[in-house]
Amino acid sequence: MCEGGSVPARPGLCGAGVSAPLLTGGERPYVNLDYAASTPALCRVASAVERMLPYYSSVHRGAGFKSQVSTAAYEAARKRLLSFFGAREGDVAVFTRNTTDSMNLLASALPPGSSVLTFCSEHHADLLPWRREGLRAVCLPIPESPEAAISALSAELERGQPVDLVAVTGASNVTGELWPLHELVDVAHRFGVRVLVDAAQIAPHLPINLARLDADYLAASGHKMYAPYGAGILIGRPDWLARREPYLRGGGAVDFVTRDSVQWSELPARQEAGSPNVLGAVAMAVAAAELDRYGMDRVWAEESALGAEVRSGLQAIPGVRVYAIWPGAKERTGVVSFNLEGQEHSLVAAALSAEYGIGVRHGCFCAHPLMLHLLSVPEQGAEEIRTRLAQGDHSAVPGAVRASLGLGTTRPEVEYFLSAVAELAARGPRLDYEVDPRTGDFVPTLQPTWALERARELVSAGETAG
Ligand SMILES: Cc1ncc(COP(=O)(O)O)c(C=O)c1O
Repeated sequence: MCEGGSVPARPGLCGAGVSAPLLTGGERPYVNLDYAASTPALCRVASAVERMLPYYSSVHRGAGFKSQVSTAAYEAARKRLLSFFGAREGDVAVFTRNTTDSMNLLASALPPGSSVLTFCSEHHADLLPWRREGLRAVCLPIPESPEAAISALSAELERGQPVDLVAVTGASNVTGELWPLHELVDVAHRFGVRVLVDAAQIAPHLPINLARLDADYLAASGHKMYAPYGAGILIGRPDWLARREPYLRGGGAVDFVTRDSVQWSELPARQEAGSPNVLGAVAMAVAAAELDRYGMDRVWAEESALGAEVRSGLQAIPGVRVYAIWPGAKERTGVVSFNLEGQEHSLVAAALSAEYGIGVRHGCFCAHPLMLHLLSVPEQGAEEIRTRLAQGDHSAVPGAVRASLGLGTTRPEVEYFLSAVAELAARGPRLDYEVDPRTGDFVPTLQPTWALERARELVSAGETAG
């Protein structure tokens, strides 16, 4: 099982050998530094899905052999994920589409009139689901340190305003700091308040044990944990999810329906209306097993060390500004955001792709309040951005470049990336770029159609193969 003696082999990733064409000529191995957005599938996940396909069939209500196999695989996947995340006895796991869906599901299940507290640094997926009719969303200012986060939460809860849920990320998706989850859970529980951990940015990067952490809910996405087959998960206490009407209404969530009445099912079926994503669930479970096989402690040690190298390497390049919510923080995932003095973030990202074959992300990373804070945009500036956006001008939105690491990242890739950034910082891009008026992004003036052609080929592969 463990290739190479007692140390398990690093899990293989689909697409590891893909080359990227360079606009400067030729091609080179693609360097993926965008794991925080979406991860490639693990090879074992892809082959497990392929092995499952001949058995794919309806779940729960089918009587045939294949339905029995599919149902058992779906339920085994649920169990595997409960165990991977260290859930408590009695916790429920509901399969969703992704973290955003999990958050919205929980928002729909909160007791009416609930108050939800977040920090303004959260991803939009953890800011917006609570801003809805019937709930009160409170957004605490971005704290200056982990200690300040703990005391701000404590001070807010001491004010005596009713709060039902604290929703907090495990790690910043922009700057990588780990949030002091244990302490935040302790504070919240002292006041009888539940905690939801947005685990999108930690599930594939560090060990999580819900029972030890004592958080009440956890949300995660398959496509961020090497299982991009459309499933996500919400794990946690069943009572709220069992009490309210289902988030989605339809078949699978009901025991009996008459012309004017409905008998909703028990959990988890109650919150999984419609035909479930069996392959997505199986993919997530296999990814969890493979991550466990390699060892989450090892994943964390390797990625956080490489992340620190990226951060310090960038900081050493003249003209590079690296962002941090808590500049001195020691514990960070491999997520680093930065800008080059005098160069637009989208220009830097376009040049890294076109001239170096490096894939990064740029913009505001679905965390607008945090980015405005990191970029020191005043309230007035935010107003101007809003006005210009309303006029269709997307170039007004500020942002940064984000490099994010994962299981496939190697030291040579990190070194290559740092040398590419150093070249760009020293002399700018070699090619000409222009702004695409629809998006406000820079694109090479001689925009090649490679990506489009490859996509067409892939989409029509089925037709031609047939
Ligand atoms: C911290 C965090 N939370 C939530 C999400 C939303 O995840 P998804 O798009 O898979 O729903 C993301 C996505 O980037 C994220 O980084």
